[in-house]
Amino acid sequence: MLVAGNWKMHTNREEAIQLAQAVVAEVGDPGPVQVAVCPPFVNLEVVRQIVEHTPIHLGAQHMHEEVAGAYTGEVSAPMLKAVGCRYVILGHSERRQYFGETDAAVNRKIKRALQYGLIPIVCVGETLEERQAGKAATVVERQVSAALDGVALPSAEALVIAYEPVWAIGTGHTATPAQAQEMHALIRHLLVKQYGEEVGRALHILYGGSVKPSNAADLFAQPDVDGGLIGGASLKAADFAAIVQAAC
Ligand code: G3P
Repeated sequence: MLVAGNWKMHTNREEAIQLAQAVVAEVGDPGPVQVAVCPPFVNLEVVRQIVEHTPIHLGAQHMHEEVAGAYTGEVSAPMLKAVGCRYVILGHSERRQYFGETDAAVNRKIKRALQYGLIPIVCVGETLEERQAGKAATVVERQVSAALDGVALPSAEALVIAYEPVWAIGTGHTATPAQAQEMHALIRHLLVKQYGEEVGRALHILYGGSVKPSNAADLFAQPDVDGGLIGGASLKAADFAAIVQAAC
């Protein structure tokens, strides 16, 4: 199980310090559950200082596919690695929607992240329109296949998929456990097809989209849901800790 908090564009420096300290205190020892927080770039260093030597891991929300160069405003895989990141979220629907991130770019970023020993948390998920048109499975299948095209994995721990239906993000409309399981089973099938039974079954598939303390346990009880990618609820340490607890 893995529970990761995506802080998105929230927390100034002082708020990040306080939230990270509270997460460390509230989560305590999560046992076998892996836990990560993904603050904005500018707060990675200060959060690293708080979470290092604790069970909480550090992740970034995005990265550029090139290693260095004239890409004003961007941050690269070796930079994230050097600041202590273990994870990097790639292909989040907000990046796809507002910043034009394509399946092909996500694929190149995954390869770069793996090259630098970062664990990509690769986000996929359909919009409401696509779901209503009966295209959810087709869209997710396309996103997963394109993202993982030519991607070799050294182990099942090297990469994570997050299914985040766009209609459930920040809306309070969580997918039902059955809806989540249906899509996770499809993703599992694709992973097994590409990486074989052992690795395909062991890869983590997270659910994201309005996960709260009240619905986390039911979602995590689904056979192919291996944890969650948490937005809004990760900004309250007690809620985030309760969600981690639901994964234990
Ligand atoms: O990446 C996490 C996310 O998009 C879900 O956000 O606020 O619905 O939990 P939220």
